[in-house]
Amino acid sequence: SMLVRSSSPVKQALLRRGFASESVPHRKVVILGAAGGIGQPLSLLMKLNPLISSLSLYDIANTPGVAADVGHINTRSEVCGYMGDDDLGKALEGADLVIIPAGVPRKPGMTRDDLFNINAGIVKNLSIAIAKYCPQALVNMISNPVNSTVPIAAEIFKKAGTYDEKKLFGVTTLDVVRAKTFYAGKANVPVAEVNVPVVGGHAGITILPLFSQASPQANLSDDLIKALTKRTQDGGTEVVEAKAGKGSATLSMAYAGALFADACLKGLNGVPDVVECSFVQSTITELPFFASKVRLGKNGVEEVLDLGPLSDFEKEGLEALKAELKSSIDKGIKFANQ
Ligand code: NAI
Repeated sequence: SMLVRSSSPVKQALLRRGFASESVPHRKVVILGAAGGIGQPLSLLMKLNPLISSLSLYDIANTPGVAADVGHINTRSEVCGYMGDDDLGKALEGADLVIIPAGVPRKPGMTRDDLFNINAGIVKNLSIAIAKYCPQALVNMISNPVNSTVPIAAEIFKKAGTYDEKKLFGVTTLDVVRAKTFYAGKANVPVAEVNVPVVGGHAGITILPLFSQASPQANLSDDLIKALTKRTQDGGTEVVEAKAGKGSATLSMAYAGALFADACLKGLNGVPDVVECSFVQSTITELPFFASKVRLGKNGVEEVLDLGPLSDFEKEGLEALKAELKSSIDKGIKFANQ
């Protein structure tokens, strides 16, 4: 049967082109916080991604179980579980992409900023380790408040002399996922065809969906656009309240995180025209970090795209979000330097 298989025309063609060794490069992806509410379904989804050859799952607790479980799935990547500080270096070594969903989630009545005191410290320590063990890796920051944790990581990397602004991303994909879902529901268009850029930041009014640029276009009233904007901004709180104290979005976040990580890997692999919204270092407004459409490439950010034409409502939203976003960025920078 070996003979039959290796002489199949498809396989012969693939071997001739060196498909296995050249077109699908080795890629190591690390998840920090892999045993958590987001981390577990994200580990599952990343195990299904054929672009990954090595999947490294790290947490301070429970990773052996998650790694053993996910590791039995018969897909390409090899899975390794790591637990505790002493293992963090091994988990990170050789990484192409590090995804960080480590930290505590919101409970009803909490804002993302209420998480600052705990998560800022976690992100700081993980960033120090990334600078030490895999300074070349792309970093996808999920831990909240993203508006502050991304500036914290940037400052830590600067201190270590490893900062590359093209490689640090705040994951705002869930805002885009929500905007698409809510828009499709009201515009009565197939959700799979919908595109909506979401810009600004990742908390409350700093989340600014640009429904004026949504496609396919639909003639929605101003009131409906306002309501869709508010629902997108409050999407996280909707889930926090529905879970009634048991945490925040995990399943939809894992989906969004997997989507964004896949886009990063495609960019690294040289796939052209990979564009996703993300919270990155930016000069498209006066704020040092801002979420907007970003073209991804072999070195991470290839181009930060500008905002495009805004409606009056969106222009107001943009002005209104700047003070809060600036203060969250400053809070992160100050924390990292204290
Ligand atoms: P969770 O509490 O279920 O899981 C967090 C995991 O992080 C736990 O397994 C914990 O052991 C681990 N952890 C804690 N300290 C760690 C450290 N120093 N190193 C490695 N792992 C560590 O929380 P969940 O629901 O998974 O949320 C995680 C984070 O993601 C929260 O900060 C939450 O606010 C954020 N989030 C971000 C979203 C976004 O759109 N960017 C959406 C939803 C949540």
